[in-house]
Amino acid sequence: MTNSRIPGFYKLSLDQKLDALAKAAGMDLDLLTPLLTSGLLTTQEADLMVENVVATHNLPLGIGLNFTINGIDRLIPMVIEEPSVVAGASFMAKLARTGGGFHATSSAPEMIGQIQILDVDDIPAAIMAIEGERGSLLAQADQIDPILKELGGGARDLEIRVIEDSPIGAFLVLHLIYDVRDAMGANAVNTACEKLAPRLEELTGGRVHLRILSNLSDRRLAKVKCTIPVDELAFETSPHPNLLPRGEGTSPLSPRERAEGEGIRNYTGEEVRDGIIEAWAFAAVDPYRAATHNKGIMNGVDAVVIATGNDWRAIEAGAHAFAARDGKYTSLSTWGQDGDGNLVGTLEMPMAVGIVGGATRVHPTAQIALKLMKVNTASELAEIIVAVGLAQNLAALRALATEGIQRGHMSLHARQVAIAAGASGELVEQVAAQMVAEKMVRIDRAEEILKKKKPIIR
Ligand code: MEV
Repeated sequence: MTNSRIPGFYKLSLDQKLDALAKAAGMDLDLLTPLLTSGLLTTQEADLMVENVVATHNLPLGIGLNFTINGIDRLIPMVIEEPSVVAGASFMAKLARTGGGFHATSSAPEMIGQIQILDVDDIPAAIMAIEGERGSLLAQADQIDPILKELGGGARDLEIRVIEDSPIGAFLVLHLIYDVRDAMGANAVNTACEKLAPRLEELTGGRVHLRILSNLSDRRLAKVKCTIPVDELAFETSPHPNLLPRGEGTSPLSPRERAEGEGIRNYTGEEVRDGIIEAWAFAAVDPYRAATHNKGIMNGVDAVVIATGNDWRAIEAGAHAFAARDGKYTSLSTWGQDGDGNLVGTLEMPMAVGIVGGATRVHPTAQIALKLMKVNTASELAEIIVAVGLAQNLAALRALATEGIQRGHMSLHARQVAIAAGASGELVEQVAAQMVAEKMVRIDRAEEILKKKKPIIR
């Protein structure tokens, strides 16, 4: 059984973190140690994945902690270049835990394949002809992947749509609904659509043009809910733990100076809850805000999608198209309060991810990521991903509704600026801490501080 609570994880060395992770996951450390080799995917393997390969490109992989989803603890690998995301999700998962964690569900893994049929002279007759052959068309589509069929997947339905008004006039579109089980499904669906094309041309007298999966996978949805006890939302602003010097007594500021300089204040749970609901209301009605709000959700979603070798462009496309499904782009999540005044959040979105096939199978880090999360089905993975998305959304709204995003963000950003200025080892923390204390996180300032700190070598 996994225990996703690892107190003090961020303070550990890389080796210690891996050790703690293996213990918390109840896994053999040997299964995780390959992670310490940066760039597990070899250039040779990469060369087989895409074209014109000359190298691989690495990104940080952090672990989202404290998650309990449907009563099961999960340690969540997150691949992302942006500071604060992993810490934010982990912190919100800790709050959600006090309210019973995340409760997630998902629909059947049904994808939609689209077949565009042009030049149909008699659309009503073509529709009748397709309807008359529905059974045989579905049976034909079913044959393309016997293994998928054996696993319980296959063609489920056909939907006929007439597009009346387009720049090229009216045409027919056939939707093939296909249960892809644990795959992302693009290959199976595209193959099935291509297979049906000749028969559809015969039946309709038209010309089949596009045959391709739709990324608006609105039949493959994942949904999650969490309740945060209102008292858990109360907090006092304080410097980010990552910025506190590791040794004692090395802070550049006294506690009083820090409190004054950082504008420390207390927020009640009710204030934070109401601030979060007000922030969500903005995204619910305004597409400019909704785009940024949803981007915050995708910070969490994409990080897990990438860690597991899934197609994050497909997930992004589906998410934003779904957010505009009623004709106006809006928030993917909702925030409100229950009868006891606790904060309640929900998120529902398409989640076309797989655990078999494609990069999920080929990429060694993706394989470790799936093992670490102990997912057995693509639906389970989808439910984990939406939980991380909701946690990430909460982290952003909580910060925005209270102290503002820059405090936490700039604190971590300051480390990157310090590194860019040439700091290494302990100097990274020291230079970053000083820049944050001075509220001046800039590369020129980092260089100045560094010059003063570095021993002069004669
Ligand atoms: C930044 O990557 C994400 C946020 O802009 C999300 C939001 O505004 O809700 C902080």
